[in-house]
Amino acid sequence: MRTIAVANQKGGVGKTTTTVALAAAMAERGRRVLLVDLDPQGSLSAWLRQPRTEGRGVEQLFLGEPEEAAWRERLDVEAGVSILPSSPALAGVERHGVPGRARALAAGLASLAGQFEEALIDCPPSLGLPMVSALAACDRLLVPVQTEFLALEGLERMTGTVAMVERSLARKITWHIVPTLHDPRTGAGRRSLELLRSRYEAQAWPGLVPVDTSLRDAAEAGRLYAGAPGRAGQAYSGLVDWLDGAGVTGKHLAQEAAA
Ligand SMILES: Nc1ncnc2c1ncn2[C@@H]1O[C@H](COP(=O)(O)OP(=O)(O)O)[C@@H](O)[C@H]1O
Ligand SMILES: [Mg+2]
Repeated sequence: MRTIAVANQKGGVGKTTTTVALAAAMAERGRRVLLVDLDPQGSLSAWLRQPRTEGRGVEQLFLGEPEEAAWRERLDVEAGVSILPSSPALAGVERHGVPGRARALAAGLASLAGQFEEALIDCPPSLGLPMVSALAACDRLLVPVQTEFLALEGLERMTGTVAMVERSLARKITWHIVPTLHDPRTGAGRRSLELLRSRYEAQAWPGLVPVDTSLRDAAEAGRLYAGAPGRAGQAYSGLVDWLDGAGVTGKHLAQEAAA
């Protein structure tokens, strides 16, 4: 199972949308996908119309015994796609989480590795135990960045966080930037994209996700997708190809781990 975390400390940059659209593109390829909603606000759960019930969400992994609790609550939302929903209790985890629990999520996900090809973790915008746990559990980190000037500043905060978590977990995190909400008609959008690509040459995915309202239609409908993939859906499909082609496959990761 390949585990991809989607994180950025800035809100509204397309983290949840990226998580859902990637799940759609992966499910379309016949893969079994596990969605993990680590945001106490639960936008991902709300998108897929999953109730956020205390004691039945992903927070069980941090607070209780994973075997017994959270995994039973895994819910199928669409063909091949399941979700571990957020719950209001996740906010408590964020505030009172025990640092030693940072690997609990990784351990829980490992126990599910045989059931899914892909796990996608939607992170909250705050730096707390849930985000650190996701960074500890992921094979790759995707950082959606809106192509507008102020978003670049937010990105610097996120890269600082990645470096800090790398030190505290003694683990290297491979991450990629996903330019989102791009409007090529504006000069500011084009310049921000250029700046992003030149400043983060090694990390930037060469593609981009354009502004596309069909993603909002999918959220409104409570589905992974609304109709055929629009321009953004196609972009996310290209991102899956890129991740696969960049050798970011479960098989490759197993070899990496064994080496
Ligand atoms: N490519 C896109 N085109 C149009 N709207 C988008 C796109 N990506 C995200 N959005 C919208 O932008 C808002 C923020 O996206 P969201 O995924 O919730 O961000 P985050 O999870 O980072 O807070 C939402 O209203 C979402 O529908
Ligand atoms: Mg979100």
